[in-house]
Amino acid sequence: MRVVVGGLAGPTPVQVRTHIRVDGAANPIDSSRSNVLVHGDAITSLARLAPSSVDVIFADPPYNLQLRATDLRRPNDSAVAGVTDAWDAFGSFAEYDTFTRAWVEACRRVLKPSGSFWVIGSYHCIFRIGTILQDAGFWLLNDVVWVKSNPMPHFRGVRFTNAHETLIWAKRDESARNVTFNYQEMKALNGGKQMRSDWHLPICGGRERLRDGSGRKLHSTQKPEALLERVVLSTSRPGDVVLDPFAGSGTTGAVAQRLGRRWIMVERDAAYCDLIESRVCSITPIADSVDRDAVVAGRRSS
Ligand SMILES: C[S@@+](CC[C@H](N)C(=O)[O-])C[C@H]1O[C@@H](n2cnc3c(N)ncnc32)[C@H](O)[C@@H]1O
Repeated sequence: MRVVVGGLAGPTPVQVRTHIRVDGAANPIDSSRSNVLVHGDAITSLARLAPSSVDVIFADPPYNLQLRATDLRRPNDSAVAGVTDAWDAFGSFAEYDTFTRAWVEACRRVLKPSGSFWVIGSYHCIFRIGTILQDAGFWLLNDVVWVKSNPMPHFRGVRFTNAHETLIWAKRDESARNVTFNYQEMKALNGGKQMRSDWHLPICGGRERLRDGSGRKLHSTQKPEALLERVVLSTSRPGDVVLDPFAGSGTTGAVAQRLGRRWIMVERDAAYCDLIESRVCSITPIADSVDRDAVVAGRRSS
């Protein structure tokens, strides 16, 4: 176990001062005193968490895009850097469904009865995931469309531009009560009007996009922090525990930490875990809601 000091300091309601990184699959994971980065498989790692112990789950699982390395081409026939990572490859829909059922059930076990579950996906996977969620007992509360204001064009021009992804917000079961929904905070974020289920936000770019020295993206599917801010601000309170079973570059934990929530992130790839550690170490939580409003004010959608 490696302990990294950093991040959570200053006057905040959160008791946490460090995050720990745990490797392997040996012991129960204790998230009561610090943020936890788990280097491991989502399904086996979640089995090491106490039941009914997390307030919010945000999952950005493999999409099963079924892309081959040469599938995406520009009009000049040059290849587009799509998501061809090994972690996104499944042999069949049945294999993907088996995997999805396993992680969905693992998430449901650790979610508090009053907790919120979020999952994001494209048309390749979100319908299968939605069915599996309902079959597992989750009760759907909203689907939210993330409308990308600057989507990647459809280079071959044989279909519509894919300009959105879908998020599903669900509670653990139909009878669940007291699910946090910060209606007024969302309204304030939306210029005083009720927040709607279409979120118009750009894809992750500019200085927020993590790149190596030669400008290459460090993660192919890094989500914009503005998207996670809405998820975290709407359905959690300061001090709550936010879990991300497919952490990638660590966007969920980075946002949770900044907003004074605690986090648990699971990621199977060691290089991404290193990236997450360097990302979260510099993040100081914002102490109160006035400051939080100031931070997200620049993100208001039109
Ligand atoms: C879609 S990406 C998540 C991106 C993330 N939301 C971000 O903003 O960077 C999915 C991630 O899940 C990881 N992954 C895939 N299968 C996994 C598994 N069984 N257990 C843990 N992590 C897994 C991949 O390595 C990848 O980084």
